[in-house]
Amino acid sequence: MSKGEIVMGALAPHPPHLVYAENPPQNEATSEGGWEELRWGYERLRESLSDRDYDVIIVHTPHWATFIGTHFLGVEKFKSLSVDPIFPNLFRYNYDLKVDVELSKAIHDNAADSGLLVKMMENPDFRIDYGTITSCHLVNPEWNKPIVCISSNRSKFYFSSEVMQANMIKLGEATRKAVEASGKKALLLSSNSLSHRHFTVEPEVPEDMSKEHVTNHNQYLWDMKMINLMKEGKTKEMIDLMPDFTEQTVAETEAGCLTWLMSALDFPDYKATVHAYGTVIGTGNAIVGWDPRKAKI
Ligand SMILES: [Fe+2]
Repeated sequence: MSKGEIVMGALAPHPPHLVYAENPPQNEATSEGGWEELRWGYERLRESLSDRDYDVIIVHTPHWATFIGTHFLGVEKFKSLSVDPIFPNLFRYNYDLKVDVELSKAIHDNAADSGLLVKMMENPDFRIDYGTITSCHLVNPEWNKPIVCISSNRSKFYFSSEVMQANMIKLGEATRKAVEASGKKALLLSSNSLSHRHFTVEPEVPEDMSKEHVTNHNQYLWDMKMINLMKEGKTKEMIDLMPDFTEQTVAETEAGCLTWLMSALDFPDYKATVHAYGTVIGTGNAIVGWDPRKAKI
């Protein structure tokens, strides 16, 4: 069996507004559009993947929060309705997805070997979180690949950002080793926004783009700081700044997704491709790709 590999890693944020704005048949709500810059960014990310063959999508999601260890989906199929708890007016999505349980279990086992507390989630009636659904839909609307879904252990809240990061670095290494041993080609998604202070009142027309802007200038400056480090290939420096960034912008990086992704990619020192930056209800969102082929140039 040939060695498996990560074919690409991506920061793939999950505002449900982006799915709402696309009007896919799976979503009950309908819109007049909106947030085009980010949706066109997802188009560019999909285009960058069009010549990449991959077997599975591995997604780390903030909205499957687990307080005791990291959990992994361990059932082959899930089909149900996902309703966003904050925006039920925008996101009522009928999902029907497959899980690569074999790879999921392999990552679980590697993570356990590295000392992390882990668990396979084997309840067939489990409701898949909207972070997973939104990021996977926007990256692969055909849903023709199985997924591996990893929960976000809330160690930042029990302990600190530093503990969370140490655990996510181990989890990233365990993920990479499991992918390599599996012989499979994997696309990795970090399903999170950057700065995450947001508006508390929704406009009468949710997709009214005259109302959309970053919550405040501080958030914007922090987002640009982090994005520029990605563009310059300084991902170790970005991880070092992550606790301060997360604290000062209430960033969704608190869930550990981006630290996990950077570790799985072995902290890229090549340039990331920024496909888009835009805001959704004032939060900062970047769509960014890391192509490991660039490491070999
Ligand atoms: Fe979120």
